[in-house]
Amino acid sequence: MEHQLVSVIDFGGQYTQLIVRRVRELGVYSEMVPWQKADEHIREKQPDAIILSGGPRSNLEPNAPTIDPASLGDRPVLGICYGLQWMAHHLGGKVIPSDEREYGKRHLGPREPGSLVSLMDNDLVWMSHGDQVLSAPAGFTVTAKTETCPVAAMENTNERRYGVQFHPEVTHTPSGKAILKSFLFDIAKLRGDWTAANFISDTTDWIREQVGDKKVLCAVSGGVDSSVVAALLSHAIADQTTCVFVDHGLLRKGEAEQVRQMFTETFHPNLMVIEAHDQFFGKLQGVTDPEAKRKIIGEEFVVCFERNKAELADHDFLAQGTLYPDVIESGSDTASKIKTHHNVGGLPDWMRLKVIEPLRWLFKDEVRAVGRELGLPPDVVDREPFPGPGLGVRILGEVTPERVRIVQDADWIFREEIRKHNLKEGIWQSYAALLDVRSVGVMGDERTYEQPIVLRAVASEDAMTAHAVEFPFTFLEHVASRIVNEVKGVNRVLYDLTSKPPATIEWE
Ligand code: XMP
Repeated sequence: MEHQLVSVIDFGGQYTQLIVRRVRELGVYSEMVPWQKADEHIREKQPDAIILSGGPRSNLEPNAPTIDPASLGDRPVLGICYGLQWMAHHLGGKVIPSDEREYGKRHLGPREPGSLVSLMDNDLVWMSHGDQVLSAPAGFTVTAKTETCPVAAMENTNERRYGVQFHPEVTHTPSGKAILKSFLFDIAKLRGDWTAANFISDTTDWIREQVGDKKVLCAVSGGVDSSVVAALLSHAIADQTTCVFVDHGLLRKGEAEQVRQMFTETFHPNLMVIEAHDQFFGKLQGVTDPEAKRKIIGEEFVVCFERNKAELADHDFLAQGTLYPDVIESGSDTASKIKTHHNVGGLPDWMRLKVIEPLRWLFKDEVRAVGRELGLPPDVVDREPFPGPGLGVRILGEVTPERVRIVQDADWIFREEIRKHNLKEGIWQSYAALLDVRSVGVMGDERTYEQPIVLRAVASEDAMTAHAVEFPFTFLEHVASRIVNEVKGVNRVLYDLTSKPPATIEWE
């Protein structure tokens, strides 16, 4: 089945990805396209509707981000922020630079009855712009203003062109979803054909087409992404799939056993396990640089797949759980490299296996929905994300078996206490990291000179931004006391309060 498509043209806005997610949440498939590639994309993919995103630049500056207005054709178009200004600027309205940046919550004034913005129950909107539209192009009606913004919304219903100066995609605009919904269903008359079941049937066809009669090696970690990939492959080409679990010694306490059990008992009995503790620890010896560690770990995985097992020699493909945000990030010209996620660009150039990424169109919450639809157990589908390089990026400095033991034990206590105290709700990830400094302490009248553990728990919607979870102080004190008393080698416990940005979720 062919999906209908809404293309979101990215003019560099900080919320563009969120627009795509909101559209998909409403059941319509959506893709994000950088403005530089928009004309070609529209010609090729013929989207059913277009949304023009916000952006940090000004339409008035030379070489401002733009697309060919003719490429929009007669499709319904919704311009948001810079997108609204772009429409005004290119269709004959007037855009002016503003003396002051309008940023934050604003109330819309009276709204034109029957207009798109009149559907909002709440007139509160989130603004974040410098330039503003002074007058709408001919054929457009101004449908809302704010005290300082003369064109907060405009529309030309005959041509199905709509624009809002505010951001309907953010939660700070409480009725923003009503606008997106009406645009998709009342104006663009879309079907809403983006469901987990449709994704599974489309992707099954896609996998069969890509793979033909070849064999696929599916690397599993027990995490939700690789488990969903394994389930999809089992659904599409079970006889051609080998699931491989590399036990590299960098997993959480008890996790290797859990993964084995889960796969063998519940859904993929032919799991191949490669024991590789010595291999990984050997290569990581003396290595302290985070990027070097990631590179080694990524590379050693491939060594396991291509060189350690003769049974895998006739496999042509390596299936990976790369998700849409990683695809967007690696395809963007502007995003700078923060970390080499080893399932994204960190594979060695000598690798023989061809990569296949059946989840490359999905956001994390969509992966979970697909997992549920495929019948994966809740403790897999709702599992916290865990980084591919495992504890390797949670142990600062050298990774040794002894330091892995310390971090595993502290991590176990932290998460056990979270469970016992019923504090799991709202946590995206929680873990312990080990720092590579030492500090002085005192225990049983003896001086200690040992390492600190950092506890980190964050709330997040998609790992792009995150903030620290607010635990009761007594809870943190209790966990700290247990760790210092029970985990040999630790004499101090810290709680990380930093948001992402400016920090990241992992410490390395
Ligand atoms: P950061 O630390 O960049 O993490 O805020 C964002 C999300 O990605 C996970 N993460 C990784 N996942 N390979 C992965 O598969 C990696 O190398 C990697 N590094 C970070 C992290 O746990 C968080 O969910």
